Amino acid sequence: MKQICVVGVGYVGLVTAACFSDLGNRVIALDINEERIAGLKRGEMPIYEPGLEELVERNVRAGRIKFTTSYAEGLEGTDFAFIAVGTPSGVDGEADLRAVAASAKSIAENMRDSLIIINKSTVPVGTGDWVAEIVSSNQPEPIPFSVVSCPEFLREGSAISDFMQPHRTVLGSLDPEAAEKVAQLHLPLRAPIVITDLRTAEMIKYASNAFLATKISFINEIANICEELGADVKEVAVGMGYDKRIGPFFLDAGLGYGGSCFPKDVKALAYMAAEKGRHPQLLNAVMEINDDRRPMVVRQVMELVGDLKGKTVGLLGLSFKPNTDDMRDAPAIDIAKMIQAYGAKVHAYDPVAMEVAAPLMDGVEMFSDPYSMAADCDALIVVTEWNEFKNLDLERICEKMRSPVLVDGRNIYDPAVMAKIGYTYRGIGRGYNGSYHNGEVEHEVIASPTGV
Ligand code: UGA
Repeated sequence: MKQICVVGVGYVGLVTAACFSDLGNRVIALDINEERIAGLKRGEMPIYEPGLEELVERNVRAGRIKFTTSYAEGLEGTDFAFIAVGTPSGVDGEADLRAVAASAKSIAENMRDSLIIINKSTVPVGTGDWVAEIVSSNQPEPIPFSVVSCPEFLREGSAISDFMQPHRTVLGSLDPEAAEKVAQLHLPLRAPIVITDLRTAEMIKYASNAFLATKISFINEIANICEELGADVKEVAVGMGYDKRIGPFFLDAGLGYGGSCFPKDVKALAYMAAEKGRHPQLLNAVMEINDDRRPMVVRQVMELVGDLKGKTVGLLGLSFKPNTDDMRDAPAIDIAKMIQAYGAKVHAYDPVAMEVAAPLMDGVEMFSDPYSMAADCDALIVVTEWNEFKNLDLERICEKMRSPVLVDGRNIYDPAVMAKIGYTYRGIGRGYNGSYHNGEVEHEVIASPTGV
């Protein structure tokens, strides 16, 4: 049985700690936030993540996971210390590494035996070397240690299954023996393990997130073109996805990416490139396309209902994606602000994120169910594709609305069905520009597709 300390009990840290304990290791989860640790000791999760509470509870009962705010206690008898603290974006897009530096320093001051320090947070290329520097310069007396980079690839909402069934484990270190020991920890997960140097491992994480963000911006650009040319981006994505070189994933056009990872990581990679005098053209375009998604959906509502002054627009969903209450860089925040700036009222409903969202969304009226939320609305926008929205009583909603306009920012409904119910329906990139009547698409007849 190995002993592991995980520093940071946010999404990444707590999931990592709980999953390693479930694999049979002894884990101490450490955070300097006393409130969070006290809550965890009482069985209260600081975040919403499906399955996490049960997983933590099971391993607390089995005596495999404990919580502390003390580095001395956390590091006592520990073989591995994971750093899984936040790395938010600074003003220019550079990652803010203050929490990483503080934890490296505290680890240095409190370690009593040789230790493998593992960076799990997404950190700029070169941070592993910098952490090693901080540790050696803050140790009261030299104790051997190694730094390994082991970037996380967990998606919020499915973080536990992503941990337990990873596509791969990436490890980077200048100490092959340390990397080998960390690889052993991951063997029960039965995934390919890539062992490389520190900087390459750090880069793999940024390149992976930037590539996924690129796929999203790519399909959103195609969606824009589909709208103009009368094609359906959902079917375009299906047709493309069968090509194994392209793959079917991350080709959902809509309101673009939000959350705590893609926006920050694409920006940070572009920053690292620019700082070295490179012009990150593609990354800049990815961000520019993504930035336009939020105003775009507001423009679409205005095309359908006209001037927003005095009107009411309802938001179905607030969190940046389903199965989380995370509101970091959630499109809903910007969309609500823009609608309010045009003089309209905003109603909102989300199955889990309303408590977290309320303080971030001044003047937005929250409702406890989607039906009362939709009452008297002039338009609805699907912002988050929660499963429960796919099974709503849409006839009931249609009757309650002042005017049944629905802009489906995540393409969850069938345009023909929506038109039959009586909605003026608009999806994203679905190429009929609102001209969907009696279940029939009305395409503009193009005399010659080449325009000749
Ligand atoms: C993402 C990555 O998927 C994880 O592999 C990575 O570990 C994590 O960032 C991280 O760096 O910590 P996450 O931000 O939780 O995970 O969420 P995703 O499911 O990747 O979705 C990100 C955003 O892209 C969401 O706003 C989602 O709505 C949007 N998205 C996703 C689309 O607009 N279209 C798609 O086809 C897929």
